[in-house]
Amino acid sequence: MSKITVVGAGNVGATCANVIAQKELAAELVLLDIKEGFAEGKALDMMQTATLCEFDTRVKGVTNDYAATAGSDVVVITSGIPRKPGMTREELIGTNAGIVKTVVDNVLKHSPNAVIVVISNPMDTMTYLALKASKLPKQRIIGMGGILDSSRFKCYLSQALNAPASDIEGMVIGGHGDTTMIPLTRFAAYKGIPVSSLLSKEVCDKVAADTMVGGATLTKLLGTSAWYAPGAAGAMLVESIIRDQKKVFPCCVALDGEYGQKDICLGVPVVVGKNGWEKIVDYALNADEQAAFNKSAEAVRSMNNVLTEMKVI
Ligand code: LAC
Repeated sequence: MSKITVVGAGNVGATCANVIAQKELAAELVLLDIKEGFAEGKALDMMQTATLCEFDTRVKGVTNDYAATAGSDVVVITSGIPRKPGMTREELIGTNAGIVKTVVDNVLKHSPNAVIVVISNPMDTMTYLALKASKLPKQRIIGMGGILDSSRFKCYLSQALNAPASDIEGMVIGGHGDTTMIPLTRFAAYKGIPVSSLLSKEVCDKVAADTMVGGATLTKLLGTSAWYAPGAAGAMLVESIIRDQKKVFPCCVALDGEYGQKDICLGVPVVVGKNGWEKIVDYALNADEQAAFNKSAEAVRSMNNVLTEMKVI
């Protein structure tokens, strides 16, 4: 019998919780928010879809009551403010760092054995913060950004190829930022055929560029950041943990020399199972890809330094 908590009942948290419930990933799902009545309302709304969507997961909403989250196997953190049009994810750090640190502390008081999934932005830095603040074994801290970015990559590739996205393989590594993510076009394939042999370089470059600003494009259209894809991507990560699927996903994890980087959390392909991320998969990057990865690491590292300047870690 599993128990999952989603912290933050905003658009991303509520969508993530809804997908988790519909997939019946847990017997019990707790949705927590600081805003009085907000998580309770969303949870009740979800529970009223139980017979419509045919799930038995019990969704419970609570206001800041961490005791209700006790004994969770997985905790997803979505707390913090989302970006507004024109804002980068990085500009959220001042506000979100304090929020995420408090959430991590509270969560671990009641679920000391949980695997922690971080979605709050700027995600790479918030994952690093969660790792440092919690002092948990690194395998139990996973940042979710790469699954979302890869899903956007496959979506744009499917449009360029006029093929279903489910027939396409594609992975985005590096940071979860408009300029730090790295769509790995060389490894993208349509039913095993490299997309580079099916699409011109111009089209491949445009797909990669659209992918990188995938979130910003939506923020501009919606006036706030996206939720369907971020929420569903979070739930897919939770599924691999809860069901011990050992799927390979690009996730933000602590690097200790892998991909040429250390003392940083950054997106790389990992095997995900019940204990968190279990193994980093080596894609043997070429010189250009490695250079892009190093540049991404540099940008994320300077963000992480803000945490020290702010004295949150
Ligand atoms: C996005 C936000 C959730 O990429 O980071 O849509």
